[in-house]
Amino acid sequence: MLKQTSNFLRATRRQPTDHTPIWLMRQAGRYMPEYRAIRAQHDMLDVMKTPALAAEVTLQPINAFDLDAAIIFSDILPPLMGMGLDLEFVGGVGPKIHNPLRESADIERLVTPPASEIMQPTLDAIKLVVAELTPRGIPLIGFCGAPFTLASYAIEGGGSKSYAKTKALMYTDPQAWDLLMRKLVTVQADYLLAQAAAGASALQVFDSWAGLALGRLDYQRYIQPYNTQLFAAVAKADVPVINFSTGTADYLDVVAACGGDVIGVDWRIPLDAAWEKIGPQRAIQGNLDPVALLTPWPVLKERVDDLLARAGGRLGHIFNLGHGIFPNVPVDNVRRLVDYVHEQTAKAM
Ligand code: CP3
Repeated sequence: MLKQTSNFLRATRRQPTDHTPIWLMRQAGRYMPEYRAIRAQHDMLDVMKTPALAAEVTLQPINAFDLDAAIIFSDILPPLMGMGLDLEFVGGVGPKIHNPLRESADIERLVTPPASEIMQPTLDAIKLVVAELTPRGIPLIGFCGAPFTLASYAIEGGGSKSYAKTKALMYTDPQAWDLLMRKLVTVQADYLLAQAAAGASALQVFDSWAGLALGRLDYQRYIQPYNTQLFAAVAKADVPVINFSTGTADYLDVVAACGGDVIGVDWRIPLDAAWEKIGPQRAIQGNLDPVALLTPWPVLKERVDDLLARAGGRLGHIFNLGHGIFPNVPVDNVRRLVDYVHEQTAKAM
């Protein structure tokens, strides 16, 4: 594990940096020809389950661009397989769970094994990547899904627009909801701690769908207690933790109260307004609209300039997108973005 030398790790602690660090959510992915070449040979689960392949894909964007951090190649959903759910990544559709949770008996049947039993290939991939990146001074981020976002997949059986089944269960059977959320916290906390033990220098929790499904009051009642438990459990790892969510602009204060050293914000709120809501003592990550990477350079540049102006050179800004990168982004735009953020924020040494 890298100690706090890199710009990325210093920014998580709101310490001075040489330039604003940047990495991109879903930075290893289909917009890269190198990634598509691997995926042409292996399916998604095979890449994640084969440490050498997962390590190779993790390093692809690091070798292509001057990024300040890597993120281990996996997905938020594989730990659900270890809990008893039957997951498939269906090409062109997305993840599908063939035995979704429908009643409390299904939730009672879920098991909570340690990460060493169910996610060992990812832990092994972390070791391979860290061995490669430590001499280069680049930190590796481990991650997991937050309990609500994982529960929504487990109950809906895949992606959803309304989260109707998830919310109906949550509203109707609070005891079953509590049991499900506690089981998810148990598994994700152990998984995050195991990733840190394997060498990850930072951890990110993705609550991608919380704010698209719930408003402030339901978030406080059905999510906050469990996210708080998860962040408290992971504080033991002594590595910085990023708390990312989308659609939560209206109640970022509550999101931040759950924990995390860095609050990851989506593109729906100006960065300075978000920072005001989470408080000046917290580092912030974000929040360029991913669509900006699909636009010509002058348009992209203007949006980057605006974002950097809103960050205002304050300590503790990690540049990122406000959500994952799109598969049709031109590689050249990514290179220009990364280099431009570095140039514009370089401090005189
Ligand atoms: O950021 C990274 O580069 C690390 C790898 C990573 C992936 N998924 C790889 C992936 C991470 C951190 C994730 C997280 C993830 N997965 C989230 C949370 C982040 C977010 O975007 O909100 C969610 C909700 C998922 C679930 C998921 N996985 C969906 C909805 C899909 C299908 C949609 C899509 O983009 O195809 C996936 C598949 C997936 N996960 C791909 C990748 C690179 C595409 C797989 C492929 O076809 O090659």
